[in-house]
Amino acid sequence: MNCKIGVISGDGIGPEIVREARKVLDRVAERFGHQFMYMELLLGGASIDAYGVPLTEETIEKAKSCEAVLMGSIGGDAKTSPWYQLEPSRRPEAGLLGIRKALNLFANLRPAYLYEELREACPLRADISEAGFDMLIMRELTGGLYFGARKTEEVDGVRTAMDTLSYNEHEIRRIAKRAFDIAMKRRKKVCSVDKANVLDSSRLWRKVVEEVAKDYPEVALSHMYVDNCAMQLVMNPAQFDVILTENMFGDILSDEASMVTGSIGMLSSASLNDTRFGLYEPSHGSAPDLAGQDKANPIATILSAAMMLRYSFDLDQEAEAVEAAVRQVLKEGYRTGDIMSEGGICTGTTQMGDLIAAHI
Ligand code: IPM
Ligand code: MG
Repeated sequence: MNCKIGVISGDGIGPEIVREARKVLDRVAERFGHQFMYMELLLGGASIDAYGVPLTEETIEKAKSCEAVLMGSIGGDAKTSPWYQLEPSRRPEAGLLGIRKALNLFANLRPAYLYEELREACPLRADISEAGFDMLIMRELTGGLYFGARKTEEVDGVRTAMDTLSYNEHEIRRIAKRAFDIAMKRRKKVCSVDKANVLDSSRLWRKVVEEVAKDYPEVALSHMYVDNCAMQLVMNPAQFDVILTENMFGDILSDEASMVTGSIGMLSSASLNDTRFGLYEPSHGSAPDLAGQDKANPIATILSAAMMLRYSFDLDQEAEAVEAAVRQVLKEGYRTGDIMSEGGICTGTTQMGDLIAAHI
């Protein structure tokens, strides 16, 4: 198979972790007889440095010409980086939101799975971690507070800021369908998370999700308020299969879910539209404090590349080979700093990539 992959190395640890993911992809190509062609794209801080803006038409057009995009991470240290002296719409994060919107990537899949080998790194009480967990957060990615009207102004001499949380039924229906489709391939449970005791947008969310559920009689649907969900994720994460939620709640809950897996450095993600195209990126940020020191954990990016093989290229066997290689390397005791525990073998970014590639 010939695949054209856009690559956004990005900022901070981005270039290092993407380099390792490409190493693993190249090994997959060699082992399974595929050809992966890469096209470098600029986004975020790297694009600001080159063009003064975090996202250009050129990047959007180039991304559209690819079958999938693999991304590291974007952004810098908000306190020290000159990117954050710019107005908000020209900062690195605006580029990421812009590309999500431009490519209509409304469905963000964030799996959180507790590896047997990483139980030690799990911050939960042993009786909770022993039950294990395997959930998938389906986060709506192109609506809600992130994209609603916002402004900051003075009203009668008082500084006032406003952000708008709005969803229409079409936006809710298409993400809900995605969640139910995925649940059918998993344990057939969807927990829809909202704040319907307070928000109108959540009350509509709940109604539309219930309408969609009628087409999936085999899937058990439950609803949960977001504050309760935050609590349940640390009390009893084993109860969750697919968590379906809006953009902002999904942002927050996915960080929490990833942390209970032991490290945010393990959590991959796929952002999909209604074609086979997807943007694949780790759920974590650019960790500028770790950049260039061979300390970052490349596993989330490598697992994101596995998601790309599965969702954009239909290469299930290859995706499984990557996931199995990750498990094997963990089993052998290799650990980057973020997942280190007693008896682990301290491993740098490059070596982690080498080891995973070698197991394919
Ligand atoms: C994420 C990130 C982004 C988000 C930031 C960088 C804009 O936190 O992908 O979770 O909030 O969506
Ligand atoms: Mg986030």
